[in-house]
Amino acid sequence: MANSVSIVVLVSGNGSNLQAIIDAIATGQISAKIRAVISNVPDVYALERAQSARIPTDVVNHKDYDSREDFDRSLKRAIENYSPDLIVLAGFMRMLSDDFVNYYQGRMLNIHPSLLPKFRGLNTHQRALDDGEQEHGASVHFVTPELDSGPVIIQAVVPVQEDDDSETLMKRVFKEEHVIYPLAISWFASGRVQLENGKVMFDDKELQSPIVHKGGETILPTSPEA
Ligand code: GRF
Repeated sequence: MANSVSIVVLVSGNGSNLQAIIDAIATGQISAKIRAVISNVPDVYALERAQSARIPTDVVNHKDYDSREDFDRSLKRAIENYSPDLIVLAGFMRMLSDDFVNYYQGRMLNIHPSLLPKFRGLNTHQRALDDGEQEHGASVHFVTPELDSGPVIIQAVVPVQEDDDSETLMKRVFKEEHVIYPLAISWFASGRVQLENGKVMFDDKELQSPIVHKGGETILPTSPEA
């Protein structure tokens, strides 16, 4: 991979994960450059965050397109202006067509606010509470055509507290999202994490289960030779 990995970040909203990634690049935790931030919604705060960090922005408004395929084609053109090595979905709220996803297979990451495979889709915090879960969290995964189903790299596990509502739980999960997303991206950027034949490879070995981040600690797979 090139010296410094080129990233395009896709957003639709607030962009707190984008901010965590910008900050992690600024401190040197991630060796990469964000070439552009592209939103499908005009005027979102994520675009302001990008502009403040002097990152080029673009808007491909899904409302301007009659079909998902047309939108995806335009989005792909906008992305390809920057020839990225990695596409980072950071609160990007559009479903993407299979062709688009397959084109970027192995070089597109997403963060989802649940311990996948639990609670794919929306309203994950409330659903975790409704189901009486003791633990909840977030997952960083490679994107595959089926929604929120790609191979998971790392999960942040947070305890559910008795007095939690979806807001308090969401805040606790967000805090951890901002830790694990930069971490996963730093591993991708340094070549430690790759997708091979549909499996996550970490330090050239197949990951048997997602890496866990819990209680402030990241538990890496143990290597027999270590
Ligand atoms: C996060 O909860 C993320 O897990 C989900 O969308 C939300 C984006 O938040 N995919 P932000 O825009 O990064 O603040």
